[in-house]
Amino acid sequence: MDFNFNEMELDIINMLEDFCVNEVKPLAAELDEQERFPTETLEKLSEMGMMGMYIPEEYGGAGLSYNTYTAANEIFNKYCASTGCMFEVHGSLVTWPLLTYGTEEQKQKYLPKMASGEMLGAFGLTEPGAGSDASGQKTTAVDNGDHWLLNGTKCFITNGYYASLYLVFAMTDKEKGTKGISAFLVEKGTPGFSFGTKEKKMGIHGTATYELVFEDVKLPKDALLGKVGEGFKIAMSTLDGGRISIAAQGVGIAQGALNELIPVIKARKQFGRSIASFQNTQFKVAEMQTEIDAARLLVYRASQMKQDHKPCVKEAAMAKYYATKTANDVARMCLQLAGGIGFTREYPFERFMRDAKITEIYEGTNEIQRIIISGEMGIR
Ligand code: CAA
Repeated sequence: MDFNFNEMELDIINMLEDFCVNEVKPLAAELDEQERFPTETLEKLSEMGMMGMYIPEEYGGAGLSYNTYTAANEIFNKYCASTGCMFEVHGSLVTWPLLTYGTEEQKQKYLPKMASGEMLGAFGLTEPGAGSDASGQKTTAVDNGDHWLLNGTKCFITNGYYASLYLVFAMTDKEKGTKGISAFLVEKGTPGFSFGTKEKKMGIHGTATYELVFEDVKLPKDALLGKVGEGFKIAMSTLDGGRISIAAQGVGIAQGALNELIPVIKARKQFGRSIASFQNTQFKVAEMQTEIDAARLLVYRASQMKQDHKPCVKEAAMAKYYATKTANDVARMCLQLAGGIGFTREYPFERFMRDAKITEIYEGTNEIQRIIISGEMGIR
């Protein structure tokens, strides 16, 4: 399936595949074991100009298509979901809203640095009481005339500490519910902004997941992204894109696990024959590749709609729900078919399985995705 990529896009896709085989895959187990952020990969991707893949050239980006960016999300995750997650949050959850809602000054100020990798992005929406219920924001931003005063705590923030630009959502008028939420661009190092707990997680150990703490943080008036009260819409429309990328992450994890399994089942012998020769194995492999291809089609349908600037709320939710379920089903089955060795850390199957789990949770749980899908069908 080439999804009509042109020659230049295919060159980029092949280049990223080679990069991942040579630079990302060899680090994956180490990042996982040591719970270490992929700093060296971020530096290399920055040098390659890949941190601003779809940022227009006028803002220092590579000016590539959204579908090429989606393909990159799949590729990274075939080899290392932590690297994929670092890349996706920066690209989908910070770059896109800046491009879409930023003033010309904000775009000029931040996009070239986002594209060059000098600035990494993070997305501050979730709070202890505002996970699935994203509207339940307790963080506040008060208009003090010449500045905003930000107070509150965010949790589970991917790229926390390592990012230098944080898109933070806060209540500016709690009487107005979702229309009382606004979005702010907060730079690391702003007085009063600090980092709390670093989470110890089941998977994606190479990502940094931190608490953000804001204590009387004075923000300049132009830190506001979009209009006052537009924050919830900004968060939701941003997550539509993020969910396509997490769906691509699911496809990547599933394809990566299956690719690793093939040589194992061909080599491993039981009852005097390779386990690939058993019909059970053949059926499972066929089912898995079919599920992955179906998920990939959902991903590129949604990605193409996003590239064409068409509403894709339902399609993004469908892709996310299906592809991340597939990632979990496939990773678990690959481990099962690998047998005892699959359970050891000598092989990547247990890491794929641990990394897959979060894809069903972050950027909207798969329960929320099904609420969105049925809501878009008029079933409420
Ligand atoms: N685009 C634009 N606007 C949207 C929208 C979208 N996709 N979805 C909703 N809105 C608008 C609605 O039109 C509505 O506007 P009006 O009042 O003008 O009609 C407004 O937002 C409120 O919408 P709802 O009534 O549907 O809002 P809700 O409070 O019922 O919430 C929800 C809906 C789908 C449950 C939402 O809260 C949600 O998506 N929750 C999940 C949150 C989530 O995904 N969190 C992920 C955290 S980030 C993360 O994980 C990143 C990471 O680190 C990797």
